[in-house]
Amino acid sequence: MPDGPHHPDAQRDPDERRVPDERRVPDERRVPDAQRATDEHRVPDAQRDPDERRVPDAQRDPDERRVPDEHRYPDEQREAVYRVIAERRDVRQGFRPDPVPADVLRRVLAAAHQAPSVGFSQPWDFVVITDRARREQIAALARKHRDEFAAGLPGARARAFDRLKIESILDTPVNIVVTCDRTRGGRHTLGRHVQPQTADFSSVLAVANLWLAARAEGLGVGWVSFFDERELAAQLGLPAHVEVIAYLCLGYVTGFAPEPELATAGWARRRPVSWAVHAEEFGRRGLPGEEPVDPLADVIAAIAPPDTAAMSAAAERQDRMTKPRGSLGVLEEVSVRLAGLAGACPAPLPEPACVAVFAADHGVHAQGVTPWPQEVTAQMVANFLAGGAVVNAFAAQAGAEVTVVDVGVAASLEPVPGLLPRKIAPGTADFTQGPAMTREQATAALTVGLEIARDLVAAGNRCLVTGDMGIANTTASAALICAFTSADPAEATGRGTGIDAATYARKVDVVCRGLARHRPDPADPVGVLAAFGGFEHAALAGFILGAAALRVPVILDGVISGAAALAAAALAPDATAACFAGHRSVEPGHALALDHLGLSPLVDLGLRLGEGTGALLALPLVQSAARALRDVATFDSAGVTEKQ
Ligand SMILES: Cc1cc2nc3c(=O)[nH]c(=O)nc-3n(C[C@H](O)[C@H](O)[C@H](O)COP(=O)(O)O)c2cc1C
Repeated sequence: MPDGPHHPDAQRDPDERRVPDERRVPDERRVPDAQRATDEHRVPDAQRDPDERRVPDAQRDPDERRVPDEHRYPDEQREAVYRVIAERRDVRQGFRPDPVPADVLRRVLAAAHQAPSVGFSQPWDFVVITDRARREQIAALARKHRDEFAAGLPGARARAFDRLKIESILDTPVNIVVTCDRTRGGRHTLGRHVQPQTADFSSVLAVANLWLAARAEGLGVGWVSFFDERELAAQLGLPAHVEVIAYLCLGYVTGFAPEPELATAGWARRRPVSWAVHAEEFGRRGLPGEEPVDPLADVIAAIAPPDTAAMSAAAERQDRMTKPRGSLGVLEEVSVRLAGLAGACPAPLPEPACVAVFAADHGVHAQGVTPWPQEVTAQMVANFLAGGAVVNAFAAQAGAEVTVVDVGVAASLEPVPGLLPRKIAPGTADFTQGPAMTREQATAALTVGLEIARDLVAAGNRCLVTGDMGIANTTASAALICAFTSADPAEATGRGTGIDAATYARKVDVVCRGLARHRPDPADPVGVLAAFGGFEHAALAGFILGAAALRVPVILDGVISGAAALAAAALAPDATAACFAGHRSVEPGHALALDHLGLSPLVDLGLRLGEGTGALLALPLVQSAARALRDVATFDSAGVTEKQ
C-alpha cells in the first residue's frame, strides 16, 4: 500500500516535517479518557438526563470484565481513536495559507478510499481542486445559494445566519469533491439492488474517513452543501451518471474549536446520546446497561422551580434602570419571570422563536357541536403549510418559524417541508360515548409534544409558541377545563368559531354528558386527557412540559393551549413558571384556565381564532421585556440622577 499511513520515513515527502503540526494528534501524547467522546459529557446540565441510571456494580454482568480483548487496541491507541472522533470539527474559520503537502493529501485520500462500500462497489471518486479561478467560480455558486436561503429565513434566524460563515472555498488551499457513481459494479452489486441509495451512503463513509484522517493530520475540513448539484457537476466536468456527494475545503488551521461552531453560535444544540438510543424498539429509549428512559417521567422530574436569586437580581435591576420604577408595568414582571426561568439575570433573549401548530380531529364532532365540517382541519393544515393562514402572517411579522404537527388529523397528509407527521390516530373517539383516547395514546401524544419541544430547542429556538388546529376542539377544551378547575360547563363553554343558540345549548349538554360519564379525577391528568382531550391537547401539554424542562419560555395561545397548560400544570406544577399567557381569548373557559394557572394575559384583543395567533402577537412583548432588562442602562452606569 504505497500511500498508506505506515509507509517508511524514507518515502515521506521532505516537506512533511515542516507542516504546521501543533494540532496533529501526536502518537505519544496522553489522550483524554475515551468517555470524553460521548455526547452526554458535553451537553449543558439542563439537557442532561435527570436520573442517575447507571446499573450498580453488584448488578453488572459478571462476564463484563472478562470480555475477549486480545484484538483490542492498547489503551492509548484506542483513546486516540475516540479522541479524533470527538475532536473532528467542521472548520470554516481560521484557515492558514500554508500549502498541504502532496503526501499528506495522499494519506488522507487513501484513508477515504478504505471506506466500506455496498457490495464493495467503491462508488466514489475524488476531484482535487487547487486552481484559484475555478474555486472563484464555485464560490460564486455557493454565494448565490446562500443568498437564496437567507431570503427565506424568519427574522431572528436570518440575523443569526448573517453572522455565520458557511464555506471557506477561497480561504483553503485545497478543495476536494467526493462523488458517487451509482452504476459502478454493474447490475448485481450486492445490497444495492434493494437500496440504490446505499451507493451514496458508501461515498459519505469515504467522506467520514477523510475527515477523521485530516483531523489526525492537523488539517481542518469544511463541508459545503450550498450548491445545486448539477450546476456544480457541470463546473467540474462530471459525466451525467456521476453525482456530487460532498464539497470539502481543506487546510491547516490556527485551532480546532472544542464544540461545533453552530452550537457555540447558538444555532443548534447537541442532543444527548440517551435521546438517540432505543432498546429493541423505536421509542424505548435507553442506553445499554442503564434503566430504560421514560421521556415523560424524565421531563417531569427535570422541571424545577424558578431561580429566586435570578428573579431578585432582575427585580433589583429593573429598579436601577433609567426609567421611573415600575413604569414598564407588566413587562417588568415578564423580565423577572424570564430571569427566574433561565436562572440568569438578564435572561437570554427569547429568539429565535418557533410556533408549533398541533393539529388533530375530534370524535365529539359527531355530536353537532360546530357548523364546520371535519375536513376543514386538514384543509387548514394545507393552508398553514402553503403560508396562507393568519398564523403565517403573524409569524412572518414577528419573525417566527411555523411548524405544523399532524398529531391526529382524520386524513392522510402529503409529506411537505414544515409538516411533522406524528399522527397517533386519525382523530379521537367521541367522548360522549367513551374515552376520547386510550391512556397509551394520551401518553404517546404527550411524548410527541415534549420531543418536538426538545427538537425545536436543539434546533436553536429560544422561545416556543403554542398553536392548534382541530375542528370541535373548543368543546374538548371546555370539558378539560371543567375537569381541571371544577368549573360549571355553562360557564366554561363558549361559542367557538361562532354558533347559534341551539348549537350552543347542545355543546353545553355534550360537555355535561361527558363529565357525567367519565367523572374525571384532576389528580390523574393522563386520565383526564384520555377522557376528553384531543391529541393536540395532550401534545401541547407535552410541549409545555418539554419547554419547562429545558427552561425555555413558552408563549401560550388561547383556550386550547390554556386547557393543555392545565394538564401540564397538573403533571408538574412548576411548569407554569415557563408559561407566558399570550392573550385572553373570547372563549369564557380561557379566562377560567388562566385564573387557575395564575397567569395574566399579555394582550386582550377579542381574538378567537387559535392557530397560535394571539401568542404570536405577544411574542414581541416578551422579547422586548427581555431586551430592556439586558440593554437599558442603569442610573449609575449612565450617570443619570435618580428621583429624590
Ligand atoms: C452533509 C453535510 C453537509 C454540510 N453542509 C455544510 C454547509 O454547507 N456549510 C457549513 O458551514 N457546514 C456544513 N456542514 C457542517 C455541519 O454544520 C457540521 O458538521 C455540524 O454543525 C456539526 O459540527 P462539527 O462537524 O464541527 O461536529 C455539513 C455537514 C454535513 C454532514
